[in-house]
Amino acid sequence: MKNFIDLRTIYDSENTFGDFSIYIDEHNLEATEKIRDFYGFSDSLKKDYTFVLKKISTDQLLMTDSEFELLSNKHFIDNATGDVLILGLGLSMIVLPLLDDDSINSITIIEQEQDIIDYVGAKIKKLDLRNKVNIKLGDAYEYYKNKDEYGKYDYVYIDFWPSLNESAFKDMEEMLITYKPLTKDENSFLRCWSYELKTII
Ligand SMILES: C[S@@+](CC[C@H](N)C(=O)[O-])C[C@H]1O[C@@H](n2cnc3c(N)ncnc32)[C@H](O)[C@@H]1O
Repeated sequence: MKNFIDLRTIYDSENTFGDFSIYIDEHNLEATEKIRDFYGFSDSLKKDYTFVLKKISTDQLLMTDSEFELLSNKHFIDNATGDVLILGLGLSMIVLPLLDDDSINSITIIEQEQDIIDYVGAKIKKLDLRNKVNIKLGDAYEYYKNKDEYGKYDYVYIDFWPSLNESAFKDMEEMLITYKPLTKDENSFLRCWSYELKTII
């Protein structure tokens, strides 16, 4: 079992870079009992601060480290092993717990925003003492098409949706088919963030 890293040790309480901002939200975004029950946790992942990654020009919230995010990404951090592909860098919340894990060989991340790669990537680089992380500028809807570019992975994690709704779940179903060729074998994981909640949301 791995633990999430306290993002207060990574980010300032407020910072702007290019068209993006990372800051501590004054609201504490707690998960509902229904979501806690679904994942079989009590309130053990609750905390009293929440970081937010926002795109300024569109006012779009791209990622938080809310209790809901911790719960819904716990399977990934506990099961990631070998060579890992993550679509969506965000706050790097799910990347940081893997850096010192001996079972991880490589972490490839596809991110479409250069500003996020520059800012968040620099934070990761300082902590990536074993040089495992490779962040590439790219679009998750295109990356799988380039057979010369991509490798094969033990865990493919598709994590670029900012929120959950019917159209996101439909999109996930397509991505699960599209990204299957990038898995190593039948033991590899191929998951979309929170797809398991389709039946209860
Ligand atoms: C929910 S966050 C990812 C969370 C992240 N895995 C973490 O550990 O914090 C979504 C990220 O995906 C990126 N993104 C959104 N659409 C994308 C796309 N089509 N291709 C690549 N990245 C995308 C966003 O810019 C944002 O950084």
